[in-house]
Amino acid sequence: MDQQDRIAGLFDRVADTYDQVGVDFFQPIADGLVSELSPQPGEHVLDIGCGRGAALVPFGLAVGAGGSVTGIDLSPRMVEAAGRVAREAGIVAQVLVGDAQDPQLPAESYDVIGSSLVLFFLPDPAPALRRWRELLVDGGRIGVSTFGEYTSGFRTVDAVFAPYLPATMRDPRITGTANPFASDGGVEQLLREARFVDVRTASSSVSVRFIDHEHWYRWSWSVGQRAMWEAIPEADRPQVQAKAYEALDGCRDADGRIGFDQVVRYSLGVR
Ligand SMILES: C[S@@+](CC[C@H](N)C(=O)[O-])C[C@H]1O[C@@H](n2cnc3c(N)ncnc32)[C@H](O)[C@@H]1O
Repeated sequence: MDQQDRIAGLFDRVADTYDQVGVDFFQPIADGLVSELSPQPGEHVLDIGCGRGAALVPFGLAVGAGGSVTGIDLSPRMVEAAGRVAREAGIVAQVLVGDAQDPQLPAESYDVIGSSLVLFFLPDPAPALRRWRELLVDGGRIGVSTFGEYTSGFRTVDAVFAPYLPATMRDPRITGTANPFASDGGVEQLLREARFVDVRTASSSVSVRFIDHEHWYRWSWSVGQRAMWEAIPEADRPQVQAKAYEALDGCRDADGRIGFDQVVRYSLGVR
């Protein structure tokens, strides 16, 4: 199975619970991206790796009936969910199964491209960004969100998975310093190499808190981290869970709540 099939399968399996377990995470991150891109009524927007529509819906609301919003995602179940969520929000969106690495969409057709928490999943982000640029009109805006730093103490929770992870499985928050997603400058450079101009970075922070250990556990299965659980033999999972719970106790904030603060990086550019 190649990387794309693995990712599509993973997000198909999380589609039902993704962002549905009572933790504010993907939605505020996507809202921040939409706000940075400032879509205007009548504009045509493409949301690449739209998931369940966290950015697609606010994009659709902003451009209104005179504009258009298109979402693509590798996971058919995510596409299905995004279509449903958009309809429920009263938005007419075109949502398609498609590969962000090389989207098969018409050139010079979009005023805005947004992509929230997707770029680091691609086998080769640099050529993908060059392709995305071709889809924008002249002067069109691009914005991608990726992860910055997060509460250092929380690394002890993620570390419990480490012994089980194959080298190919990268958590975008904990990969080393050599990858482009380790710094604002790294992602900016990717955009500049794809010939975007006026490249800049905006940042925000999301405060992620869990009611209790079980809540974290359910959340961890509902996001990309599910792949880490699945990499652990079933018989070993209870002991990994117990270690994670122990580590979570070390990550309480001043109010005694379990969680972490996540810096979000918005990398922006113009064609
Ligand atoms: C972390 S989720 C983000 C989803 C959505 N943008 C959000 O903010 O909630 C990553 C999404 O990227 C999609 N994805 C990963 N690789 C992709 C690719 N090559 N082409 C299209 N979608 C991809 C996944 O299927 C998943 O829905």
